[in-house]
Amino acid sequence: MLLLASCTSENTRRHIGISQCSEDIWRDWQNAEMKLEASFHEDVQLSFATAHDDSRRQTQQIDSLVAAGIDLLIVAPNQLQNVSPAIDRTYDSGIPVIVFERKTDSQKFTAFVSADNYEMGRQMGTYIATYIGGRGNIMEVMGLKGSSPAYERHRGFHDAISRYPGIHIVATLQGDWTEETAYKATHQWFANSETADGKRIDVVFGHNDRTAMGARRAFEERGHPLPLFCGIDGLPGEQGGIRQVRDSLLTASYIYPTRGDLLLQLALDILAGKAYDKETLLTSALVTHENANVLYLESEEVVRRSQRLERLQRLASGYLRQLSVQRTVTVLACGVIGLLLIAIVLFYLYHRGQVNIRRERVLNNLWNLNVLPETQEEPPTPKDAAGPETTEDSETPDTPEDTEPTASAIAAMEDSSPFIARFREVVERNMSNSELTVEDLAAEMHLSRVQLYRKVKTITGSSPVELLRTARLNRGHQQLLTTDKTVSEVAYAVGFSSPAYFTKCFKDEFGMVPGEVRK
Ligand code: FRU
Repeated sequence: MLLLASCTSENTRRHIGISQCSEDIWRDWQNAEMKLEASFHEDVQLSFATAHDDSRRQTQQIDSLVAAGIDLLIVAPNQLQNVSPAIDRTYDSGIPVIVFERKTDSQKFTAFVSADNYEMGRQMGTYIATYIGGRGNIMEVMGLKGSSPAYERHRGFHDAISRYPGIHIVATLQGDWTEETAYKATHQWFANSETADGKRIDVVFGHNDRTAMGARRAFEERGHPLPLFCGIDGLPGEQGGIRQVRDSLLTASYIYPTRGDLLLQLALDILAGKAYDKETLLTSALVTHENANVLYLESEEVVRRSQRLERLQRLASGYLRQLSVQRTVTVLACGVIGLLLIAIVLFYLYHRGQVNIRRERVLNNLWNLNVLPETQEEPPTPKDAAGPETTEDSETPDTPEDTEPTASAIAAMEDSSPFIARFREVVERNMSNSELTVEDLAAEMHLSRVQLYRKVKTITGSSPVELLRTARLNRGHQQLLTTDKTVSEVAYAVGFSSPAYFTKCFKDEFGMVPGEVRK
Protein backbone atom coordinates (compact mmCIF):
# COMPACT_ATOMS: atom_id res chain seq x y z
CA MET A 1 0.00 0.00 0.00
CA LEU A 2 2.82 2.36 0.91
CA LEU A 3 4.51 1.55 -2.35
CA LEU A 4 1.32 2.26 -4.25
CA ALA A 5 0.93 5.56 -2.46
CA SER A 6 4.39 6.61 -3.46
CA CYS A 7 3.61 5.77 -7.07
CA THR A 8 1.87 9.07 -7.77
CA SER A 9 2.29 10.65 -11.12
CA GLU A 10 5.42 12.55 -10.01
CA ASN A 11 7.10 11.35 -13.17
CA THR A 12 4.47 12.89 -15.42
CA ARG A 13 4.20 16.17 -13.53
CA ARG A 14 4.85 19.17 -15.75
CA HIS A 15 6.14 22.26 -14.07
CA ILE A 16 5.62 25.42 -16.08
CA GLY A 17 7.15 28.73 -15.05
CA ILE A 18 5.41 31.95 -16.11
CA SER A 19 7.48 35.10 -15.99
CA GLN A 20 5.22 38.15 -16.33
CA CYS A 21 6.80 41.54 -16.87
CA SER A 22 3.98 43.39 -15.12
CA GLU A 23 1.04 43.01 -12.83
CA ASP A 24 -2.17 44.57 -14.08
CA ILE A 25 -5.68 43.76 -15.20
CA TRP A 26 -4.46 42.44 -18.57
CA ARG A 27 -1.97 40.04 -16.90
CA ASP A 28 -4.60 39.05 -14.35
CA TRP A 29 -6.93 37.94 -17.12
CA GLN A 30 -4.20 36.02 -18.80
CA ASN A 31 -2.97 34.31 -15.62
CA ALA A 32 -6.54 33.32 -14.75
CA GLU A 33 -6.95 31.80 -18.19
CA MET A 34 -3.76 29.79 -17.79
CA LYS A 35 -4.79 28.56 -14.36
CA LEU A 36 -8.21 27.56 -15.60
CA GLU A 37 -6.71 25.74 -18.57
CA ALA A 38 -4.19 23.98 -16.34
CA SER A 39 -7.01 22.72 -14.15
CA PHE A 40 -8.26 20.64 -17.07
CA HIS A 41 -4.99 18.74 -17.13
CA GLU A 42 -3.66 16.43 -14.50
CA ASP A 43 -0.32 17.07 -12.89
CA VAL A 44 0.40 20.51 -14.29
CA GLN A 45 2.09 22.82 -11.84
CA LEU A 46 2.25 26.54 -12.62
CA SER A 47 4.72 28.90 -10.96
CA PHE A 48 4.04 32.58 -11.58
CA ALA A 49 6.51 35.40 -11.14
CA THR A 50 5.83 39.07 -11.80
CA ALA A 51 8.61 41.60 -12.31
CA HIS A 52 6.52 44.77 -11.81
CA ASP A 53 8.02 46.37 -14.94
CA ASP A 54 11.58 45.84 -13.72
CA SER A 55 13.90 44.04 -16.15
CA ARG A 56 16.57 43.24 -13.56
CA ARG A 57 14.00 41.72 -11.32
CA GLN A 58 12.61 39.69 -14.20
CA THR A 59 16.09 38.38 -14.99
CA GLN A 60 16.48 37.15 -11.42
CA GLN A 61 13.03 35.65 -11.43
CA ILE A 62 13.71 33.70 -14.61
CA ASP A 63 16.93 32.30 -13.12
CA SER A 64 15.05 31.33 -9.97
CA LEU A 65 12.33 29.58 -11.93
CA VAL A 66 14.98 27.60 -13.79
CA ALA A 67 16.69 26.76 -10.51
CA ALA A 68 13.34 25.56 -9.17
CA GLY A 69 13.33 22.95 -11.92
CA ILE A 70 10.69 24.17 -14.34
CA ASP A 71 10.15 22.07 -17.47
CA LEU A 72 9.12 25.01 -19.65
CA LEU A 73 9.22 28.79 -19.43
CA ILE A 74 6.50 31.15 -20.68
CA VAL A 75 7.81 34.69 -20.67
CA ALA A 76 6.69 38.19 -21.56
CA PRO A 77 10.02 40.11 -21.56
CA ASN A 78 9.71 43.51 -19.93
CA GLN A 79 12.16 45.01 -22.39
CA LEU A 80 13.60 43.80 -25.64
CA GLN A 81 17.28 43.67 -24.66
CA ASN A 82 17.69 43.54 -20.90
CA VAL A 83 15.84 40.31 -20.31
CA SER A 84 17.17 38.47 -23.35
CA PRO A 85 20.31 37.02 -21.71
CA ALA A 86 18.26 35.24 -19.03
CA ILE A 87 15.90 33.87 -21.68
CA ASP A 88 18.84 32.73 -23.80
CA ARG A 89 20.38 30.98 -20.78
CA THR A 90 17.13 29.17 -20.15
CA TYR A 91 16.83 28.11 -23.76
CA ASP A 92 20.48 27.01 -23.90
CA SER A 93 20.00 24.85 -20.83
CA GLY A 94 17.49 22.80 -22.82
CA ILE A 95 14.31 24.22 -21.31
CA PRO A 96 11.70 25.10 -23.96
CA VAL A 97 10.77 28.78 -23.95
CA ILE A 98 7.55 30.37 -25.18
CA VAL A 99 7.94 34.10 -25.66
CA PHE A 100 4.64 35.84 -25.83
CA GLU A 101 3.37 39.27 -26.71
CA ARG A 102 6.69 41.08 -26.10
CA LYS A 103 9.79 40.21 -28.08
CA THR A 104 13.40 39.47 -27.17
CA ASP A 105 16.31 40.55 -29.33
CA SER A 106 17.42 36.98 -29.94
CA GLN A 107 16.13 33.98 -31.78
CA LYS A 108 16.54 31.67 -28.79
CA PHE A 109 12.98 30.61 -28.14
CA THR A 110 10.87 27.59 -28.92
CA ALA A 111 7.71 29.42 -29.90
CA PHE A 112 6.40 32.96 -30.11
CA VAL A 113 2.79 34.03 -29.64
CA SER A 114 1.46 37.54 -30.15
CA ALA A 115 -0.99 39.78 -31.93
CA ASP A 116 0.48 42.15 -34.52
CA ASN A 117 1.40 45.27 -32.56
CA TYR A 118 2.52 47.23 -35.61
CA GLU A 119 -0.79 46.54 -37.32
CA MET A 120 -2.73 47.60 -34.23
CA GLY A 121 -0.88 50.94 -34.15
CA ARG A 122 -1.41 51.39 -37.84
CA GLN A 123 -5.12 50.62 -37.74
CA MET A 124 -5.62 52.84 -34.74
CA GLY A 125 -3.80 55.67 -36.59
CA THR A 126 -6.01 55.25 -39.63
CA TYR A 127 -9.16 55.08 -37.50
CA ILE A 128 -8.28 58.24 -35.57
CA ALA A 129 -7.23 60.15 -38.70
CA THR A 130 -10.48 59.26 -40.39
CA TYR A 131 -12.49 60.05 -37.28
CA ILE A 132 -11.13 63.59 -37.01
CA GLY A 133 -11.38 64.19 -40.76
CA GLY A 134 -7.65 64.30 -41.47
CA ARG A 135 -6.99 67.40 -39.36
CA GLY A 136 -5.97 67.83 -35.74
CA ASN A 137 -3.40 67.50 -32.98
CA ILE A 138 -2.49 64.25 -31.32
CA MET A 139 -0.87 63.36 -28.03
CA GLU A 140 0.75 59.92 -27.97
CA VAL A 141 1.28 58.26 -24.57
CA MET A 142 3.92 55.62 -25.10
CA GLY A 143 4.34 52.24 -23.53
CA LEU A 144 7.57 51.35 -21.69
CA LYS A 145 10.70 52.37 -23.54
CA GLY A 146 12.53 49.33 -24.84
CA SER A 147 9.50 47.06 -24.81
CA SER A 148 8.65 45.75 -28.24
CA PRO A 149 4.88 46.56 -28.32
CA ALA A 150 5.60 50.20 -27.50
CA TYR A 151 8.04 50.45 -30.34
CA GLU A 152 5.85 48.59 -32.83
CA ARG A 153 2.60 50.38 -31.94
CA HIS A 154 4.41 53.69 -32.24
CA ARG A 155 5.80 52.79 -35.65
CA GLY A 156 2.46 51.56 -36.98
CA PHE A 157 0.70 54.62 -35.65
CA HIS A 158 3.20 57.01 -37.19
CA ASP A 159 3.17 55.24 -40.53
CA ALA A 160 -0.60 55.69 -40.64
CA ILE A 161 -0.64 59.31 -39.45
CA SER A 162 2.15 60.36 -41.80
CA ARG A 163 -0.29 59.94 -44.65
CA TYR A 164 -2.36 62.80 -43.24
CA PRO A 165 -0.53 66.12 -43.57
CA GLY A 166 -3.23 67.90 -41.56
CA ILE A 167 -2.58 65.76 -38.48
CA HIS A 168 0.25 66.54 -36.12
CA ILE A 169 1.59 64.51 -33.24
CA VAL A 170 2.29 67.42 -30.95
CA ALA A 171 3.21 65.53 -27.82
CA THR A 172 4.80 62.18 -27.12
CA LEU A 173 4.76 61.21 -23.41
CA GLN A 174 6.16 58.22 -21.54
CA GLY A 175 3.33 56.26 -20.00
CA ASP A 176 5.29 53.05 -19.24
CA TRP A 177 2.08 51.00 -19.64
CA THR A 178 0.68 52.25 -16.32
CA GLU A 179 -2.22 54.57 -15.64
CA GLU A 180 -0.34 56.32 -12.89
CA THR A 181 2.73 57.13 -15.01
CA ALA A 182 0.53 58.36 -17.85
CA TYR A 183 -1.48 60.50 -15.44
CA LYS A 184 1.65 62.08 -13.99
CA ALA A 185 3.29 62.52 -17.40
CA THR A 186 0.21 64.33 -18.67
CA HIS A 187 0.15 66.65 -15.68
CA GLN A 188 3.84 67.25 -16.22
CA TRP A 189 3.19 68.04 -19.86
CA PHE A 190 0.66 70.65 -18.85
CA ALA A 191 3.11 72.09 -16.36
CA ASN A 192 6.06 72.16 -18.76
CA SER A 193 4.39 73.42 -21.82
CA GLU A 194 3.78 77.11 -21.60
CA THR A 195 1.45 76.87 -24.49
CA ALA A 196 -0.15 73.67 -23.30
CA ASP A 197 -3.31 75.30 -22.08
CA GLY A 198 -3.57 77.19 -25.29
CA LYS A 199 -2.75 74.18 -27.45
CA ARG A 200 -5.70 72.17 -28.53
CA ILE A 201 -5.25 68.40 -28.28
CA ASP A 202 -7.87 66.62 -30.36
CA VAL A 203 -6.93 63.04 -29.67
CA VAL A 204 -4.89 61.22 -27.06
CA PHE A 205 -3.63 57.86 -28.23
CA GLY A 206 -2.48 55.77 -25.29
CA HIS A 207 -0.49 52.67 -26.18
CA ASN A 208 -2.89 50.84 -23.90
CA ASP A 209 -6.26 51.63 -22.36
CA ARG A 210 -4.80 52.25 -18.93
CA THR A 211 -2.44 55.01 -20.17
CA ALA A 212 -5.30 56.58 -22.17
CA MET A 213 -7.43 56.60 -19.01
CA GLY A 214 -4.53 58.03 -16.95
CA ALA A 215 -4.18 60.91 -19.40
CA ARG A 216 -7.91 61.40 -19.36
CA ARG A 217 -7.90 61.81 -15.58
CA ALA A 218 -5.20 64.50 -15.86
CA PHE A 219 -7.14 66.34 -18.58
CA GLU A 220 -10.26 66.24 -16.43
CA GLU A 221 -8.39 67.60 -13.43
CA ARG A 222 -6.84 70.31 -15.54
CA GLY A 223 -10.22 71.46 -16.72
CA HIS A 224 -8.93 71.31 -20.28
CA PRO A 225 -11.52 70.69 -22.98
CA LEU A 226 -11.58 66.91 -23.28
CA PRO A 227 -10.10 65.45 -26.43
CA LEU A 228 -10.90 61.97 -27.72
CA PHE A 229 -9.14 59.16 -25.96
CA CYS A 230 -8.12 55.95 -27.67
CA GLY A 231 -6.20 53.00 -26.31
CA ILE A 232 -5.35 49.37 -26.84
CA ASP A 233 -6.27 46.20 -24.92
CA GLY A 234 -10.08 46.16 -25.21
CA LEU A 235 -10.46 43.90 -22.20
CA PRO A 236 -13.81 42.48 -21.16
CA GLY A 237 -15.21 43.08 -17.66
CA GLU A 238 -16.24 46.12 -15.69
CA GLN A 239 -12.79 47.73 -15.70
CA GLY A 240 -12.00 46.72 -19.26
CA GLY A 241 -11.66 48.85 -22.39
CA ILE A 242 -14.77 47.51 -24.10
CA ARG A 243 -16.95 48.93 -21.38
CA GLN A 244 -14.98 52.19 -21.39
CA VAL A 245 -15.71 52.54 -25.10
CA ARG A 246 -19.34 51.66 -24.56
CA ASP A 247 -19.52 54.32 -21.84
CA SER A 248 -17.73 56.86 -24.10
CA LEU A 249 -14.75 57.22 -21.77
CA LEU A 250 -12.69 55.97 -24.66
CA THR A 251 -13.51 56.56 -28.30
CA ALA A 252 -11.83 53.40 -29.47
CA SER A 253 -9.76 50.52 -28.24
CA TYR A 254 -8.19 47.55 -29.85
CA ILE A 255 -8.56 44.02 -28.53
CA TYR A 256 -5.17 42.75 -27.50
CA PRO A 257 -5.94 39.09 -26.92
CA THR A 258 -4.73 37.53 -23.68
CA ARG A 259 -5.29 33.87 -24.68
CA GLY A 260 -3.76 32.27 -21.61
CA ASP A 261 -5.59 29.08 -22.57
CA LEU A 262 -3.80 28.92 -25.90
CA LEU A 263 -0.42 29.57 -24.29
CA LEU A 264 -0.86 26.78 -21.81
CA GLN A 265 -2.09 24.34 -24.43
CA LEU A 266 0.91 25.21 -26.58
CA ALA A 267 3.21 24.61 -23.61
CA LEU A 268 1.68 21.20 -22.97
CA ASP A 269 1.95 20.28 -26.65
CA ILE A 270 5.62 21.20 -26.67
CA LEU A 271 6.23 19.19 -23.51
CA ALA A 272 4.33 16.24 -24.97
CA GLY A 273 6.50 16.35 -28.08
CA LYS A 274 3.51 17.13 -30.28
CA ALA A 275 3.67 19.24 -33.44
CA TYR A 276 3.25 22.99 -32.82
CA ASP A 277 3.55 26.30 -34.68
CA LYS A 278 6.76 28.18 -34.00
CA GLU A 279 4.93 31.49 -34.47
CA THR A 280 1.29 32.09 -33.65
CA LEU A 281 -0.35 35.34 -34.70
CA LEU A 282 -3.42 36.14 -32.64
CA THR A 283 -6.29 37.86 -34.39
CA SER A 284 -7.67 41.02 -32.87
CA ALA A 285 -10.16 43.73 -33.69
CA LEU A 286 -10.95 47.40 -33.24
CA VAL A 287 -13.51 48.31 -30.60
CA THR A 288 -15.56 51.40 -31.46
CA HIS A 289 -18.91 52.90 -30.54
CA GLU A 290 -20.47 50.84 -33.29
CA ASN A 291 -19.61 47.47 -31.82
CA ALA A 292 -18.81 48.20 -28.15
CA ASN A 293 -22.32 47.48 -26.90
CA VAL A 294 -22.52 44.09 -28.57
CA LEU A 295 -18.97 43.24 -27.63
CA TYR A 296 -19.64 44.19 -24.03
CA LEU A 297 -22.76 42.03 -23.86
CA GLU A 298 -20.76 39.17 -25.31
CA SER A 299 -17.89 39.80 -22.95
CA GLU A 300 -20.26 39.82 -19.98
CA GLU A 301 -21.40 36.37 -21.00
CA VAL A 302 -17.79 35.28 -21.35
CA VAL A 303 -17.06 36.63 -17.89
CA ARG A 304 -20.07 34.83 -16.42
CA ARG A 305 -19.02 31.60 -18.04
CA SER A 306 -15.46 31.81 -16.93
CA GLN A 307 -16.61 32.64 -13.40
CA ARG A 308 -18.84 29.58 -13.43
CA LEU A 309 -15.97 27.51 -14.75
CA GLU A 310 -13.70 28.84 -12.05
CA ARG A 311 -16.30 27.95 -9.42
CA LEU A 312 -16.55 24.49 -10.88
CA GLN A 313 -12.81 24.20 -10.96
CA ARG A 314 -12.56 25.28 -7.32
CA LEU A 315 -15.18 22.70 -6.37
CA ALA A 316 -13.38 20.03 -8.35
CA SER A 317 -9.99 20.85 -6.91
CA GLY A 318 -11.45 20.91 -3.38
CA TYR A 319 -12.96 17.52 -4.08
CA LEU A 320 -9.68 16.23 -5.49
CA ARG A 321 -7.80 17.54 -2.47
CA GLN A 322 -10.27 15.77 -0.21
CA LEU A 323 -9.83 12.59 -2.21
CA SER A 324 -6.09 12.74 -1.98
CA VAL A 325 -6.25 13.39 1.77
CA GLN A 326 -8.59 10.42 2.09
CA ARG A 327 -6.26 8.31 0.02
CA THR A 328 -3.29 9.27 2.14
CA VAL A 329 -5.21 8.57 5.34
CA THR A 330 -6.39 5.21 3.99
CA VAL A 331 -2.91 4.25 2.91
CA LEU A 332 -1.45 5.28 6.25
CA ALA A 333 -4.18 3.46 8.15
CA CYS A 334 -3.62 0.34 6.05
CA GLY A 335 0.11 0.63 6.64
CA VAL A 336 -0.35 1.01 10.39
CA ILE A 337 -2.86 -1.86 10.53
CA GLY A 338 -0.52 -4.00 8.44
CA LEU A 339 2.42 -3.24 10.72
CA LEU A 340 0.26 -3.91 13.76
CA LEU A 341 -0.83 -7.25 12.34
CA ILE A 342 2.76 -8.19 11.60
CA ALA A 343 3.74 -7.13 15.12
CA ILE A 344 0.90 -9.18 16.61
CA VAL A 345 1.82 -12.25 14.56
CA LEU A 346 5.50 -11.88 15.47
CA PHE A 347 4.63 -11.40 19.12
CA TYR A 348 2.33 -14.41 19.02
CA LEU A 349 5.01 -16.58 17.40
CA TYR A 350 7.63 -15.39 19.84
CA HIS A 351 5.36 -15.92 22.81
CA ARG A 352 4.36 -19.36 21.59
CA GLY A 353 8.01 -20.27 21.13
CA GLN A 354 8.83 -19.04 24.61
CA VAL A 355 5.96 -20.97 26.17
CA ASN A 356 6.92 -24.11 24.30
CA ILE A 357 10.55 -23.83 25.37
CA ARG A 358 9.48 -23.28 28.95
CA ARG A 359 7.01 -26.11 28.82
CA GLU A 360 9.58 -28.46 27.33
CA ARG A 361 12.13 -27.49 29.93
CA VAL A 362 9.73 -27.92 32.83
CA LEU A 363 8.35 -31.15 31.51
CA ASN A 364 11.81 -32.54 30.89
CA ASN A 365 12.82 -31.60 34.41
CA LEU A 366 9.79 -33.21 35.87
CA TRP A 367 9.45 -36.22 33.70
CA ASN A 368 12.97 -36.63 32.51
CA LEU A 369 11.81 -37.14 28.94
CA ASN A 370 13.88 -36.46 25.90
CA VAL A 371 11.01 -35.77 23.60
CA LEU A 372 7.79 -33.99 24.28
CA PRO A 373 4.58 -35.69 23.27
CA GLU A 374 3.10 -33.73 20.43
CA THR A 375 -0.43 -35.02 20.29
CA GLN A 376 -3.06 -34.17 22.84
CA GLU A 377 -6.41 -35.59 23.53
CA GLU A 378 -9.96 -34.96 24.55
CA PRO A 379 -10.87 -35.98 28.08
CA PRO A 380 -10.75 -39.77 28.12
CA THR A 381 -13.71 -42.02 27.72
CA PRO A 382 -14.31 -44.73 30.27
CA LYS A 383 -12.71 -47.16 27.78
CA ASP A 384 -9.44 -45.21 27.88
CA ALA A 385 -6.70 -47.62 28.88
CA ALA A 386 -2.99 -47.26 29.37
CA GLY A 387 -2.05 -50.18 27.09
CA PRO A 388 -0.63 -49.30 23.73
CA GLU A 389 -3.49 -50.80 21.69
CA THR A 390 -6.20 -49.05 23.66
CA THR A 391 -4.19 -45.82 23.68
CA GLU A 392 -4.21 -45.82 19.95
CA ASP A 393 -7.97 -46.33 19.83
CA SER A 394 -8.75 -43.67 22.37
CA GLU A 395 -6.96 -40.81 20.62
CA THR A 396 -9.35 -38.15 19.40
CA PRO A 397 -8.79 -34.89 17.48
CA ASP A 398 -7.49 -31.85 19.36
CA THR A 399 -9.87 -29.30 20.78
CA PRO A 400 -8.80 -25.70 20.13
CA GLU A 401 -8.35 -24.79 23.76
CA ASP A 402 -6.13 -27.80 24.28
CA THR A 403 -3.71 -27.12 21.48
CA GLU A 404 -1.48 -24.63 23.25
CA PRO A 405 0.01 -24.76 26.70
CA THR A 406 -0.99 -21.59 28.48
CA ALA A 407 1.25 -19.61 30.76
CA SER A 408 -0.92 -20.63 33.69
CA ALA A 409 -0.49 -24.28 32.71
CA ILE A 410 3.26 -23.85 32.71
CA ALA A 411 3.09 -22.17 36.09
CA ALA A 412 0.96 -25.07 37.28
CA MET A 413 3.60 -27.49 36.00
CA GLU A 414 6.28 -25.71 37.95
CA ASP A 415 4.17 -25.74 41.11
CA SER A 416 3.22 -29.34 40.76
CA SER A 417 6.54 -31.15 40.72
CA PRO A 418 5.76 -33.40 43.73
CA PHE A 419 2.59 -34.61 42.05
CA ILE A 420 4.33 -35.25 38.73
CA ALA A 421 7.24 -36.94 40.45
CA ARG A 422 4.84 -39.28 42.20
CA PHE A 423 2.95 -39.91 38.98
CA ARG A 424 6.24 -40.70 37.22
CA GLU A 425 7.18 -43.09 39.93
CA VAL A 426 3.78 -44.89 39.60
CA VAL A 427 4.15 -45.03 35.83
CA GLU A 428 7.71 -46.36 35.97
CA ARG A 429 6.79 -48.95 38.47
CA ASN A 430 3.88 -50.25 36.41
CA MET A 431 4.86 -49.65 32.84
CA SER A 432 5.96 -53.23 32.17
CA ASN A 433 2.36 -54.34 32.72
CA SER A 434 0.81 -54.35 29.27
CA GLU A 435 -2.68 -54.60 30.86
CA LEU A 436 -2.21 -51.34 32.75
CA THR A 437 -5.12 -48.88 32.38
CA VAL A 438 -5.54 -45.22 33.27
CA GLU A 439 -7.96 -46.34 35.97
CA ASP A 440 -5.13 -48.41 37.51
CA LEU A 441 -2.80 -45.41 37.50
CA ALA A 442 -5.57 -43.16 38.89
CA ALA A 443 -6.31 -45.65 41.67
CA GLU A 444 -2.66 -45.66 42.69
CA MET A 445 -2.72 -41.86 42.73
CA HIS A 446 -5.96 -41.93 44.79
CA LEU A 447 -7.81 -40.07 42.08
CA SER A 448 -10.64 -40.86 39.70
CA ARG A 449 -9.72 -41.43 36.07
CA VAL A 450 -11.16 -38.07 35.05
CA GLN A 451 -9.42 -36.23 37.92
CA LEU A 452 -6.10 -37.78 36.97
CA TYR A 453 -6.61 -36.89 33.30
CA ARG A 454 -7.47 -33.26 34.05
CA LYS A 455 -4.65 -32.75 36.49
CA VAL A 456 -1.97 -34.35 34.34
CA LYS A 457 -3.25 -32.64 31.22
CA THR A 458 -3.40 -29.24 32.89
CA ILE A 459 0.08 -29.57 34.32
CA THR A 460 1.93 -31.14 31.41
CA GLY A 461 -0.27 -30.50 28.40
CA SER A 462 -0.24 -34.24 27.73
CA SER A 463 -2.62 -37.00 28.74
CA PRO A 464 -1.64 -39.80 31.13
CA VAL A 465 -1.81 -42.24 28.22
CA GLU A 466 0.65 -40.17 26.24
CA LEU A 467 3.05 -39.80 29.11
CA LEU A 468 2.84 -43.54 29.77
CA ARG A 469 3.59 -44.32 26.13
CA THR A 470 6.47 -41.85 26.03
CA ALA A 471 7.89 -43.28 29.24
CA ARG A 472 7.67 -46.79 27.78
CA LEU A 473 9.38 -45.73 24.59
CA ASN A 474 12.13 -43.89 26.46
CA ARG A 475 12.80 -46.87 28.61
CA GLY A 476 12.74 -49.10 25.52
CA HIS A 477 15.23 -46.79 23.90
CA GLN A 478 17.44 -46.98 26.95
CA GLN A 479 17.26 -50.77 27.08
CA LEU A 480 18.16 -51.09 23.42
CA LEU A 481 21.30 -49.13 24.11
CA THR A 482 22.26 -50.71 27.38
CA THR A 483 21.09 -54.36 27.27
CA ASP A 484 21.36 -57.38 24.97
CA LYS A 485 17.59 -57.88 24.86
CA THR A 486 16.01 -58.44 21.47
CA VAL A 487 13.61 -55.82 20.17
CA SER A 488 10.66 -58.10 21.04
CA GLU A 489 11.96 -58.67 24.54
CA VAL A 490 12.38 -54.94 25.02
CA ALA A 491 8.86 -54.31 23.65
CA TYR A 492 7.31 -56.74 26.16
CA ALA A 493 9.55 -55.51 28.94
CA VAL A 494 8.28 -51.94 28.64
CA GLY A 495 4.64 -53.01 28.44
CA PHE A 496 3.89 -53.21 24.72
CA SER A 497 1.82 -56.32 23.98
CA SER A 498 2.93 -56.31 20.33
CA PRO A 499 6.55 -55.82 19.11
CA ALA A 500 5.22 -54.54 15.75
CA TYR A 501 3.23 -51.82 17.49
CA PHE A 502 6.28 -50.98 19.63
CA THR A 503 8.33 -50.62 16.45
CA LYS A 504 5.71 -48.32 14.88
CA CYS A 505 5.42 -46.10 17.96
CA PHE A 506 9.20 -46.08 18.35
CA LYS A 507 9.65 -44.89 14.77
CA ASP A 508 7.02 -42.19 15.30
CA GLU A 509 8.78 -41.01 18.44
CA PHE A 510 12.45 -41.22 17.46
CA GLY A 511 12.34 -41.16 13.68
CA MET A 512 14.10 -44.52 13.39
CA VAL A 513 13.21 -48.16 14.03
CA PRO A 514 14.53 -49.92 17.17
CA GLY A 515 16.94 -52.07 15.09
CA GLU A 516 18.77 -48.97 13.94
CA VAL A 517 19.21 -47.76 17.51
CA ARG A 518 20.56 -51.14 18.43
CA LYS A 519 23.13 -50.94 15.59
C1 FRU B 1 -0.11 44.53 -19.85
C2 FRU B 1 0.23 45.46 -20.90
C3 FRU B 1 -0.94 45.77 -21.78
C4 FRU B 1 -0.29 46.14 -23.00
C5 FRU B 1 0.80 45.15 -23.06
C6 FRU B 1 1.97 45.54 -23.84
O1 FRU B 1 0.95 44.30 -18.99
O2 FRU B 1 0.76 46.63 -20.34
O3 FRU B 1 -1.76 46.73 -21.23
O4 FRU B 1 -1.12 46.12 -24.09
O5 FRU B 1 1.19 44.91 -21.75
O6 FRU B 1 2.97 44.59 -23.74
